[in-house]
Amino acid sequence: MRRVESVAELENVLSTMRDSLIAFVPTMGALHAGHRALVEQARALAPTVVMSIFVNPLQFGDEKDFARYPRNLAEDELQARDFGADVLWTPSEEVIYPHGHEIARVDAGDLGNQIEGAIRPGHFSGVLTVVARLFDVVHPDVAVFGEKDRQQLELIKRMSKGRPEIVGVPIVREEDGLALSSRNQFLSQGERQSALHIYKAIQASQNIGGEGLSAVTNAVANELSDLDVEYADVVDANTWAQVTGDFTGEAIVLIAAKIGSVHLIDNGKLRIG
Ligand code: PAF
Repeated sequence: MRRVESVAELENVLSTMRDSLIAFVPTMGALHAGHRALVEQARALAPTVVMSIFVNPLQFGDEKDFARYPRNLAEDELQARDFGADVLWTPSEEVIYPHGHEIARVDAGDLGNQIEGAIRPGHFSGVLTVVARLFDVVHPDVAVFGEKDRQQLELIKRMSKGRPEIVGVPIVREEDGLALSSRNQFLSQGERQSALHIYKAIQASQNIGGEGLSAVTNAVANELSDLDVEYADVVDANTWAQVTGDFTGEAIVLIAAKIGSVHLIDNGKLRIG
């Protein structure tokens, strides 16, 4: 695996690999088994796998959240090599934003201001802005993202319109169901137990989906009753519109909760009616 930092170095390494497909796995580091699954999917799609690690300041509303985001490049480099990436791009902030943060930002549209976007204003615009910049340099044929950030995945699909092709990878969970996240390391033992209710709420919604939307929302509310819930939304899986009483069809339940000081998100697909 080659590790590069500048755009020139990356372009130089990739220039010898452009004869065949390039799959790209953008990350913010703090790598775990969820990222391994992304690299494995990328590997199945293309002979060359590029991973990037960049903690993007534009997608953090809160300076403190940005400052405490876990960073361990030496460990991440070992992991990326072990996962099987061919190229690891670890740009500095100057490489990604050579003119500082005063740059044209990508508008994430209405969906960008809803659900996760409603509690984190500007977050998705920051995500799309950096992803557009990363795509611009890497020029991948395909890019791979986790379904844990399902709204992010949807917005990136809408932005890229098939170029590059965007592929989602199912959520990787601990044995007890907790979705893997770089933020889980901040949970105490007790908080981790509380966090399990998020997954239980998703399972409950999937189990009761056949009985209709109000049964779903009741089951979710019941399971989350002891948590500091930020949202628990059910949307149409095709349009992402919030579903209403008589809805039947494929839906997605998306949940966010503050567990202690940690913002956790999770989601799952279900059939309603
Ligand atoms: O999902 C992430 O890790 C980040 O949001 C991404 C897509 C790498 C953009 O910074």
